[in-house]
Amino acid sequence: MDMLRTRVAQRTRRVTLTVLAAAATVALTAGAASAAEVEVLHYWTSGGEAKSAQVLKQMLEKKGDTWKDFAVAGGGGENAMTALKTRVISGNPPAAAQIKGPAIQQWGDEGVLVSIDDVAHADNWDKVLPTQISSIMKYKGQYVAAPVNVHRVNWLWINADALKKVNAQPPATWDDFFKTADALQKAGITPVAIGGQSWQEAETFETVALGVGGAAFYKKAFVQLDPATLKSPTMIKALETFKKIKPYTDKGQTGRDWNMATGMVIAGKAAMQFMGDWAKGEFTVANKTPGQDYLCVPGPGTQDAYTFNVDSFAFFKVKSAEVEKGQKDLAGLLMSPEFQEIFNLNKGSIPVRQGMDLAKFDECAKKSAADFKNAQVKGTLVPSWAHDMVIKPAVEGAFYDVIGEYWNSDSETAQQAADKLAAASKTN
Ligand code: BGC
Repeated sequence: MDMLRTRVAQRTRRVTLTVLAAAATVALTAGAASAAEVEVLHYWTSGGEAKSAQVLKQMLEKKGDTWKDFAVAGGGGENAMTALKTRVISGNPPAAAQIKGPAIQQWGDEGVLVSIDDVAHADNWDKVLPTQISSIMKYKGQYVAAPVNVHRVNWLWINADALKKVNAQPPATWDDFFKTADALQKAGITPVAIGGQSWQEAETFETVALGVGGAAFYKKAFVQLDPATLKSPTMIKALETFKKIKPYTDKGQTGRDWNMATGMVIAGKAAMQFMGDWAKGEFTVANKTPGQDYLCVPGPGTQDAYTFNVDSFAFFKVKSAEVEKGQKDLAGLLMSPEFQEIFNLNKGSIPVRQGMDLAKFDECAKKSAADFKNAQVKGTLVPSWAHDMVIKPAVEGAFYDVIGEYWNSDSETAQQAADKLAAASKTN
């Protein structure tokens, strides 16, 4: 119970934003940042992420603006969101912040975001972005945020040597997966690397649920939040399959950062990790080659589906005209083909800007782009709920708690967890 309370206390995502209404006005009158200095809040601090952020900084400075780094460590961005709230409440928001999904609308409701519509129209963003994504970037019809990438979440990363040692193929089904996991364990290799942080547990469960239930089930459960689906027999099966993975993970997972877990796979200490393709940024920094040193395959049973996670920067109202100009420079840069290429080569994701040449990208990125299109056609392209793309932050936080408690409990049943999910879907 104490753990639950701590988690709840730490659950920054569910802090209601309504108190911020007054801050909008304060933001306008508070001391603005010094001339042409663009302060950017982000949470890209792992090896691959930091390299990607560096690209952004360098390209912005080439435009004559100064980058003021506001990096807040913590995978998945929970710490960054707390820092952002504090700054906006005190009337001193950064010029831009890495926020995504429904949170953009919530900040829009607070009246603290600024339109970048002129930049978006000049570059025809409506044409070069899939509508599913451009609509997330707009508040009341106007662009207030710029997207930088498409991350695929439903990946399984595999150390190629580890798989060879047990003479196995990348698992396509859950049966194969558990057979391979058994063989790896017998060979003395930790089958699955994970970090014991609620977003990592939630993300793993998200992929399992998609694999077990399929895209239609996923949409009913995690997009429509249908209570009957949330406690259906399929959900129970998904929860059981998720928990079946636990004995294949190691004891040292508590609090481990995601990139440390990726590091275990890179070093061959663990064989597999369920993680979005920011993990590829770590393999890239370690000079590893896909198809040779490591493999990227969709999570078992998710071959035809695609969970998308789009990073974006929203722009806050500031008082200085120079900073406003800097914001527009940044917005234009984020969507430019040059930036989209070099940034995504480092980040592990693919450009969100459509029609780009992917010649320089590796096989994982090319597969991601092809599978994205295929899923769009088949209706199996789904937003990642564990990565802030669809449900409101309060419900997402409540789901995190349910999944985390179930993963860490020795006694909770899948039925109990499913009932809790259905109840959590009604969180305000
Ligand atoms: C973000 C990624 C980031 C990852 C780990 C995700 O929510 O979309 O950009 O690399 O978290 O921090």
